[in-house]
Amino acid sequence: MIHVHQITFGYTPTSPLFEGFTWDVARGEMWAILGPSGCGKTTLLMLLAGLRFPTAGQISIEGRPIHRPRPGTGLILQDYGLLPWATVRQNVELGLRIRALYGPDGKHAPKESLTENRAPYWIDRLGLTEVAERYPSQISGGQRQRTAIARTLVLQPDLLLMDEPFSSLDAVTCHDLQHLTLSLCQEQGITLIVVTHAIEEALALGQKILLLGAPPNRQARIFENPRAGQGQIDRRLHNQLWEEMKRQGHSVASP
Ligand SMILES: Nc1ncnc2c1ncn2[C@@H]1O[C@H](COP(=O)(O)OP(=O)(O)O)[C@@H](O)[C@H]1O
Ligand SMILES: [Mg+2]
Repeated sequence: MIHVHQITFGYTPTSPLFEGFTWDVARGEMWAILGPSGCGKTTLLMLLAGLRFPTAGQISIEGRPIHRPRPGTGLILQDYGLLPWATVRQNVELGLRIRALYGPDGKHAPKESLTENRAPYWIDRLGLTEVAERYPSQISGGQRQRTAIARTLVLQPDLLLMDEPFSSLDAVTCHDLQHLTLSLCQEQGITLIVVTHAIEEALALGQKILLLGAPPNRQARIFENPRAGQGQIDRRLHNQLWEEMKRQGHSVASP
């Protein structure tokens, strides 16, 4: 589904974050991108989202080179990106409204997405009905993240990109939302890519883990984690990732 082919990117030409970097993602896979702060995780997400562009190489999704954001890609940023002056319901509807502005030419968005309002369905599925008329400041962090997820799912993405989605939530909420995210993606046939700096989170969510290290990243280091989503951490793999991150000379939080 995603083909990252020999890309080079850096904010300054002298210090590239990626250099000749190649990575492939198959449809329906659940990936975690793991690495210490500053290694380029968010940047890679921006490149996949079509908000930044490699200076060399190419990224294509579903066989099409990425020159702009594509309608089928959902992106959830680190702070959820909710509008503080809009209610939960209005925030969930926001994506649909923006998409409607593109016009019905079918070039930017599929026509059918302009007609049906799926917001009430997703507000209900994410347990937000009771707080739908409240503002983001009046709900919990977990509910804010649920609102951001609902807002993305109304657009029926086939690819969901999430940046450190659960790191500011308490342990129980974090666990619940990880589970919910995985099951919704499986149910809706969505390919999932989650960025995290936490080994535990990568192991919980990523059936495959892409480990980034000190820039420039040249080779994709990939770890298979078939136990993701089963509520159980693979201790051996945990230790291996821990050693890998340590070997790179980065300080990471203790397990
Ligand atoms: N807009 C920007 N302009 C210049 N440098 C940036 C910009 N965004 C990020 N960087 C730098 O690029 C590096 C990688 O950033 P980022 O992708 O956000 O890392 P991560 O998400 O892994 O913490 C960091 O050194 C960061 O300071
Ligand atoms: Mg980041």
